[in-house]
Amino acid sequence: MLRRLHPEQPESFAFTAANQQWAEAQITKYPEGRQASAVIPLLWRAQEQQGWLSRPAIESVADMLGMAYIRVLEVASFYFMFQLQPVGSVAHIQVCGTTSCMICGAEDLIAVCKEKIAAKPHELSADGKLSWEEVECLGSCTNAPMAQIGKDYYEDLTAESFGKIIDDLAAGKVPTPGPQNGRYAAEPLKGLSSLSEYEAGKPQHNASVELATDLGDTVKRINGTEVPILTPWLGKDGKQAGASAAAKPPKAPEAPKPAVKQAAEAKAKPVAKEADAKPTDVKEDQPETLTAARNGKADDLKLLKGVGPKLEETLNELGFYHYDQIAAWTPEQVAWVDARLKFKGRIERDGWIAQAAQLAAGEETEFAKRAKEEGTYED
Ligand code: FES
Repeated sequence: MLRRLHPEQPESFAFTAANQQWAEAQITKYPEGRQASAVIPLLWRAQEQQGWLSRPAIESVADMLGMAYIRVLEVASFYFMFQLQPVGSVAHIQVCGTTSCMICGAEDLIAVCKEKIAAKPHELSADGKLSWEEVECLGSCTNAPMAQIGKDYYEDLTAESFGKIIDDLAAGKVPTPGPQNGRYAAEPLKGLSSLSEYEAGKPQHNASVELATDLGDTVKRINGTEVPILTPWLGKDGKQAGASAAAKPPKAPEAPKPAVKQAAEAKAKPVAKEADAKPTDVKEDQPETLTAARNGKADDLKLLKGVGPKLEETLNELGFYHYDQIAAWTPEQVAWVDARLKFKGRIERDGWIAQAAQLAAGEETEFAKRAKEEGTYED
């Protein structure tokens, strides 16, 4: 099946503030230089927020992770769990059409979808509430035929029971997931032949259905306000010492505080003279660069969160060796540097300017402190 971006796309995409915070926290799970590993959770969150994955959403995730757009599009178009076209505002129904389900009546279920939702898969119903598609085995073959609706499974379906479920969803109800023929779980259709002593006193629903009904989020979409944001590696609410910078959403580049800036400039000029380091040609938005580190001693740029050995090398090649140089970048200069880094958007996302200003003023950032303690950087 060809999976293409939908011809109609929204103008833009932005995570909600809470989803942005969640996404930033996910990125901190991965070691420096491996942020791209967060691509699937972030795409999934974007899909949960928007209902489907638009091109701006894919590009926004790529920007957050410093990935080329095509790389993220490859992921989004490879996995069928990502919907590249708008889906029903209430639910997208995925009918299993693989062997067990097909033998047990999947084609009847698909006929119901065609009749009640839309003639073709991935088309919206007339009221925009529902959409459907046929998918491969969902691993619930014992309870065939079945369909996944939102986050839950509806099993042991017939055309009749399935039609009723669709009607209920369109009417704003959420039928109880699980087997629809009176079966408890995946026991033999004729009833238990062993372990029957556990029949008495069992809960009303099997564990999956029980959890689904407790959570009540079968067709509810995540909007980022769910608490807690599960970031145990950061401590409660992502606020544990040493993690605050990582857990914060990206900030716009900040100019350093005047006192720090003055100190940085005062430090920069005379030392540059001493080192006889000549600035290279300065274009309109190009920051002042050096041909070598002052006094032959560069600052350790790896103490900036988001800068690893490779990026440090690139920054040095561009003519940046010192914290005060970075601290003094204006937004236009950030754009100049950004255009020359592989990881676009990183300066802003990781707050290099603010970090560099602190380090230039002789203060320690949480990240620098932690990096030194954990020995995750090398002098
Ligand atoms: S064949 Fe349908 S769930 Fe496996």
